[in-house]
Amino acid sequence: MRLAKHLAHAGVASRRAAEAIVTAGRVTIDGATVTDPARDVSGDEAIAVDGEPLGAAPRHVVYALNKPAGVVSTARDTHGRPTVVDLVSEAGTRLYPIGRLDADTTGLILLTNDGELANRLTHPRYEVPKTYRAKVANAPVAERALRALRAGVDLDDGRTAPAAVHAVRPDVLELTIREGRKRQVRRMCEAVGHPVVALRRVRFGPLALGDLAAGAHRRLTRDEVERLRGAAARR
Ligand code: URA
Repeated sequence: MRLAKHLAHAGVASRRAAEAIVTAGRVTIDGATVTDPARDVSGDEAIAVDGEPLGAAPRHVVYALNKPAGVVSTARDTHGRPTVVDLVSEAGTRLYPIGRLDADTTGLILLTNDGELANRLTHPRYEVPKTYRAKVANAPVAERALRALRAGVDLDDGRTAPAAVHAVRPDVLELTIREGRKRQVRRMCEAVGHPVVALRRVRFGPLALGDLAAGAHRRLTRDEVERLRGAAARR
């Protein structure tokens, strides 16, 4: 059987993504790097991806993605729209988004195959801070509205917890919230008379979006993953 097909059958990735993984030199057969996805294999070889033997429990990985608008952050979309998981197809393992962003929200979203970490980072108990830049209508935003956003605004699902909020421009707010209710930032801004025109997440816990281009992703370093674990361990 062709190597790429064998990897796909082993659950590493789709056939196409497996071909890219092989071409990138990430696969070894009996210890030697192989770059030909069409290489014939019998199944008796010792095959490894990124040094990890096939069949071993997959390592835990975390990716950061700069989500473009129009991409949904569920693992699968019933309307056939592109998902954040589609954008990180070469991970070689099944990834799940850590929390959600609205389809029209851009910016930092994390994906992982570590379900436990994903659950902790999104559990309200750990209050992991998330920072958003919101371009809003009806600028400038008066100090009174900023104070209301900081103190908590009444939404139909209850009052929001205290938040850190400041205006970085007359029409752009930076808000750090520790909750994760549906469309929360949009509803908060709307509640104080400043509907959101564009929304981007720039930080998730200890991680910043930085200069990751729209649609681009990168794997987090071990150190970054440790810092994330730390954020979900306090409390
Ligand atoms: N708040 C929102 O309103 N939307 C998001 O996507 C994230 C936070």
